[in-house]
Amino acid sequence: MENAAEKRNVVLSFVQSSGTPTIGNYFGAFKNWHDMAVENDCIFGVADLHAITVRNTPADLRRRSMEMYAWLLALGLEPEKNIVFLQSHVPEHSQLAWILNCYAQFGEASRMTQFKDKSRQHADNVNVGLFTYPILMAADILLYNADQVPVGDDQRQHLELARDIAERFNGIYGETFRVPAPYIGKKGAKILSLQEPEKKMSKSDPNTKAFISLTDPDDVIAKKIKSAVTDSEATVRYAGNKPGVNNLMTLYSCCTGKDFDAIEAEFAGRGYGDFKAAVAEAVVEELRPLRNEHERIMKDKAYIEKCASEGAQKAEYLARRTLRKVMKKVGFYQV
Ligand code: TRP
Repeated sequence: MENAAEKRNVVLSFVQSSGTPTIGNYFGAFKNWHDMAVENDCIFGVADLHAITVRNTPADLRRRSMEMYAWLLALGLEPEKNIVFLQSHVPEHSQLAWILNCYAQFGEASRMTQFKDKSRQHADNVNVGLFTYPILMAADILLYNADQVPVGDDQRQHLELARDIAERFNGIYGETFRVPAPYIGKKGAKILSLQEPEKKMSKSDPNTKAFISLTDPDDVIAKKIKSAVTDSEATVRYAGNKPGVNNLMTLYSCCTGKDFDAIEAEFAGRGYGDFKAAVAEAVVEELRPLRNEHERIMKDKAYIEKCASEGAQKAEYLARRTLRKVMKKVGFYQV
């Protein structure tokens, strides 16, 4: 990452440690991360600081952060080559976030739709952290001069804010931050709820039949797919008024690489029973190696700790350089 002659694109993304990831996280983010890690210098983090904007019991937060980190290792993101770490291990994130708070406007942060949604959902705990969440996210991105940030639709507004803050800061103090570009993932990667296919699949859905978690055993995955909501047409085709079938076709396509035309042809004249059985088998085959790898890594705490501490060291080296530059420009007395 240091050698200018070999300078490659820096790709950065983080995942919150708020629960066991779902197949939606996998196809929406993780699988792309894995593919991008082949060609770019990548920085992947577990956003455990963001996770405390909602109340957690300490033991849960600790366990979930470690488990999420182990998922990143299980994906094969190659921690020797890329930077894979936990956000809270690098104090520069909080430090830069404070400084950036002073370059973001109250009005801008108030317009964030996720803040509005979450403050409605957690009306009993609308803490200031929830409000400044996107500023911490801007710090995550700007510390590492990321070129590209793969995010889902729900994070696009936050990324836009990070760009605005970077441009504003650069405008005042001269070129300091690289202005990140969004990375638009491949089509069809957005996985919806199996029970209410108008909604995004969510690991916090109270109805556990609505999502497939990456730890679900084979038979549970198959059962959930078989009880997925479809429609009464009984024809496998991708169409505007068939969100349930579209979603299953997307899953099947993500697992097999087949496009929608090929899938329609494969299931022409066959009912949903056959189709669901095929989707279930494809998903089970796709997830099994990943789940086994996660189980294996989870038994090797020493390996997890070694990767996390080396990842944090590499991240901090880069983060400290950016933070020092920023502090100098802002005018902090440095000795
Ligand atoms: N807010 C993001 C989410 O909920 C997670 C995140 C934190 C992130 N920091 C980031 C994503 C930096 C991309 C870049 O999904």
